[in-house]
Amino acid sequence: MEQLLTIMNKLMKVFAQANVPPIELPQIAVVGMQSAGKSSVLEAIVQRDFLPRGSGIVTRRPLVLHLVQTQGSSEEEWGEFGHLPGKRFSDFNEIRRQIELATDDVAGTGKAVSKKAIFLTINSPKVVNLILVDLPGLTKVAVGDQPKDIELQILDMIEEYIKSPRTIILAVSPGNVDIANSDALKLAHKWDPQGYRTLGVVTKLDLLDKGTDAADILTNKVIPLRLGYIGLCLRSQKDITENKSMKKALEDEEQFFRSHPAYASFSDKCGTAYLGKAMNQLLLHHISRTLPQIRTQIDTQLAQLEKDLNKFGPAPEEQGGIRSILLRLISDFSVRYGRGLDGDARVLSSD
Ligand code: GDP
Ligand code: MG
Ligand code: NA
Repeated sequence: MEQLLTIMNKLMKVFAQANVPPIELPQIAVVGMQSAGKSSVLEAIVQRDFLPRGSGIVTRRPLVLHLVQTQGSSEEEWGEFGHLPGKRFSDFNEIRRQIELATDDVAGTGKAVSKKAIFLTINSPKVVNLILVDLPGLTKVAVGDQPKDIELQILDMIEEYIKSPRTIILAVSPGNVDIANSDALKLAHKWDPQGYRTLGVVTKLDLLDKGTDAADILTNKVIPLRLGYIGLCLRSQKDITENKSMKKALEDEEQFFRSHPAYASFSDKCGTAYLGKAMNQLLLHHISRTLPQIRTQIDTQLAQLEKDLNKFGPAPEEQGGIRSILLRLISDFSVRYGRGLDGDARVLSSD
């Protein structure tokens, strides 16, 4: 079942490269205001520092992050980019640098954004299997040399992901700001009014005013979501500056919830580790639910693609490569899952 995520990720990469209409595949999109803690959530889930940081707009292209849990005794962790196939990056500072380079290459070195996604697979024994999309933060005003319509461009980019019924929305709101004003929740509500596919995440619970807590929000009493909320307590800027390790941060977070009078009674449903597991379950459930539709759509596209190929004769070398990979992937996918979900899914080895 978990292998499904691998196939989904490969399909995503191929669709992004080939010039065919993309099938909307199940994934988790991280949405929130700038500085809400989106990058911190992703890094905590991966248990590594690897995302570009800085003030202002740092994430300027969608980052499709496929986490693959490696089995066996090896502690090795590495990343591989869709645009640099075959290159293993074991140095996570280098991964950060490559994200920055890929961002500048496509979106320019200024503050502009681009819809073209970066694909990154991270293999590690520490992660749970997930497909996550990091998106630029919602923003109110253009700064510096940003185009005046930057707010709309970013909104448009986020909506492109979350309007798909196949996307799970991870709506990140900082706990120290009134949740009723959360733009992440407002936007999620616009595209998922029934709340079937929105998971609320509340960060910065350590920064609440003394004597206040977010227990009512976390127990779904304020703005109810079907999938509920998960509270987090991540590294502060000071922690990061002082190089606090991910491991220590995770332990401290656990301790924070367990010892907090308002959260202790449901501390097993708080924190980064629980969030990772919850997202994995949600995504697998979501994939199996949407599989029949995806299969139909892939069949239709396969038929169309074959028609096109016949019409145009042999494709140029490069295009042909992508097309044949695509054809193989989607026909494999259709055959494999046309019969239902049982049977062991084979990992496709065509990158
Ligand atoms: P993004 O813009 O949404 O990606 O936000 P970041 O992940 O970059 O976080 C913005 C700032 O908030 C950083 O300085 C983080 O260290 C800090 N931060 C994030 N989560 C928490 C948290 O739970 N507690 C505290 N104290 N700081 C946090
Ligand atoms: Mg960020
Ligand atoms: Na928000």
